[in-house]
Amino acid sequence: MIYLDNAATSWPKPAGVAEAVVRALREPLGNPGRTHHRAALDAASMVAACREDLAELFHAPNPLRICFTANTTDALHLAIKGALRPGDHAICSAMEHNSVWRPLKALAEMGVELSVAEAGQTGFVHPENVRRLLRPNTRLVVMQHASNVTGTIQAIQEIGAIVRAHGALFLVDAAQSAGSLPIDVVSMSIDLLAFPGHKGLLGPQGTGGLYVGEGVELQLVREGGTGSESLNAEQPSFYPDRLESGTLNVPGIAGLDASVTYLLARGVSSVRKHETGLTVQLLRGLARIPGVTLYGPAVDTPRAAVVSFNLEGWECTALAEELERRAGIASRPGIHCAGLAHRTLGTAAIGTVRLSPGPFTSPEEIETALAVVEAIAREPRDLCPR
Ligand SMILES: Cc1ncc(COP(=O)(O)O)c(C=O)c1O
Repeated sequence: MIYLDNAATSWPKPAGVAEAVVRALREPLGNPGRTHHRAALDAASMVAACREDLAELFHAPNPLRICFTANTTDALHLAIKGALRPGDHAICSAMEHNSVWRPLKALAEMGVELSVAEAGQTGFVHPENVRRLLRPNTRLVVMQHASNVTGTIQAIQEIGAIVRAHGALFLVDAAQSAGSLPIDVVSMSIDLLAFPGHKGLLGPQGTGGLYVGEGVELQLVREGGTGSESLNAEQPSFYPDRLESGTLNVPGIAGLDASVTYLLARGVSSVRKHETGLTVQLLRGLARIPGVTLYGPAVDTPRAAVVSFNLEGWECTALAEELERRAGIASRPGIHCAGLAHRTLGTAAIGTVRLSPGPFTSPEEIETALAVVEAIAREPRDLCPR
């Protein structure tokens, strides 16, 4: 298999990740924060180490403000539904994933005012498009760091400064950037950072997290057992217990701890350099193939390792199936859970084929993928399904 679907979930995982998950299941690892026997203390210190590593990666001043969640969607849900009440105003961009768009639309039905900051044809949202939408009651601005359709990188630092100056909360969806692009929650004025453990952080599925800045108040969307203040009927006010109710995904976090340790040693900048090389190779190669339409930023504009394209005469799902049939290429066709973004790009009716290399993809694999697309493109049209 040539795995080019890292934007959905990363594969392969670094050495040591699978072993850490298996060890967590094989060897005694208790329920962290619930009791004082050795196995529970071991689990608690592993979870604490992972929190500290994540804080280091995102330059978060206090690791206790990083709460584990099941995925990015779960983290976005805690943040969006925790921040907004009827009468508040929220802003998002026209490139958002359904994990942002659907909860915001649901809240709009319940009296939250919602504005959408326009994006250009490359998916880029000019910071002024956000500034001009701010209102006195704007409570939350939600913005993805990078697009899962076009790889477009948003001006997070500039937008963060605008939002901070206005006194609203800034929530960043780092689904396509955590582990692949540098993130500094302090210099980027990020109040809330939602991230997956299973994409660029290279950990297992079922992991993710939400960073909550100091002083940020969220309404609770779930309460429950935390192992702390058990006689108190109210949820503890301190973090991470405030948002972490119920038993954590300890085997998943064990794997995530191993993958984040790997990332810190390799360095996000080294991953970024590797992925940029592959992305440019892919973009240049596809641009040379007759009948290919590329979407998103120009080849010389920085983007995340996400490339969307279509081939004349081919429906995107049929093309993705053909790529897999001919060379075991794993891609993702369709709308990518991002109807809003595809409407913005004008591809809602047709979708695109998305190729997303990762830290372990080789230039040879990209060459093979390009050769297969080229071979398909050069075959007589009447052989192609439409
Ligand atoms: C931009 C963006 N936001 C949110 C999500 C949801 O992530 P998860 O599957 O971890 O919930 C994705 C997943 O692809 C995404 O690309």
